[in-house]
Amino acid sequence: MPHKVSLSVNLKGLTLKNPLISASGTFGFAEDFQRINTFKNEDIGAITLKSISLKPRMGNPPPRIVETPSGMLNSIGLENPGVALFKEKHVVKLKKYDTVFFGNIVGSTIDEYAKVAREFNDIDAVSALEVNISCPNVKEGGIAFGTDPKQSYKVISGVRKNTDKLIIAKLTPNVTDIVKIAEACIDAGADMVSLINTVNAMAIDINTRRPVLFNNKGGLSGPSIKPIAIYLVNCVYNYIKENKLDIPIIGMGGILTYEDALEFMIAGASAVSIGTGSFYDPFIYKRLSKKMTEYLRSKNIYDINEIVGSVEMNKH
Ligand SMILES: Cc1cc2nc3c(=O)[nH]c(=O)nc-3n(C[C@H](O)[C@H](O)[C@H](O)COP(=O)(O)O)c2cc1C
Repeated sequence: MPHKVSLSVNLKGLTLKNPLISASGTFGFAEDFQRINTFKNEDIGAITLKSISLKPRMGNPPPRIVETPSGMLNSIGLENPGVALFKEKHVVKLKKYDTVFFGNIVGSTIDEYAKVAREFNDIDAVSALEVNISCPNVKEGGIAFGTDPKQSYKVISGVRKNTDKLIIAKLTPNVTDIVKIAEACIDAGADMVSLINTVNAMAIDINTRRPVLFNNKGGLSGPSIKPIAIYLVNCVYNYIKENKLDIPIIGMGGILTYEDALEFMIAGASAVSIGTGSFYDPFIYKRLSKKMTEYLRSKNIYDINEIVGSVEMNKH
């Protein structure tokens, strides 16, 4: 008889049946995936909804996606219906799924983040709010909030004052020192951090000599960014461990296989998100949860949490 193993993880009191979460912006509001029945609720630990802003956003005109070797470049531009329409049309549908939901919020000003967060207070189906701090700050010349520790602090503390839900600060890799940003978000009251968002990137058409994306630049995701993400997760994990903080990390960037997911967890992530990987394989959650169980059995490990942060550095 194979021994029983547990894939369940606990994120600050929130129990997920397994550590596999859908990444924001790649799973919509779950409706399309549910309609074509590509996942069953027992296969997925949590669903992160696409980013929501105060007012509706049209997003960028096309082309807004380019395929790259081992990944993709996107400049969707945070298209979403705005929080009011989201509440009116989509929230009611979340209730029929037996899984945990994370909201994801964006804003162009600190005040807008706070207002959107407040709008989520009466949405019981959403257990945590992921705060996408990779957005341009319109009052500071368009520089992304998440590239500056002070701006990151202000966004998260504004959200903290307006919600009792768990806060997940979603970090951008497009910085010199991600630990400084993580530190600012944690000081401001974030309960968890998630990383990484997409990597700034560009593609040029050699015939027209123009960028392929209408928006000129975009964000790179998929397997090509995985080693960057693993490194950054480990950097943030080391900071959290050294300072004896109780801050779970949600790792993401290029996960396609169960080995990828385990690599993130060994680097320090308590759970992982999958974005581009669900475009390659809409059945990825089922495939990975099954394979992770087999891996644990083969290693005689009873609980997935045992591997979190278990990487041992080479000593010289
Ligand atoms: C098409 C697309 C849309 C995305 N939209 C969002 C979004 O609305 N909000 C957000 O926080 N991240 C967004 N992301 C970033 C992903 O959530 C994730 O951080 C990133 O893609 C890395 O994971 P992956 O390599 O598994 O895709 C988007 C990514 C893609 C590919």
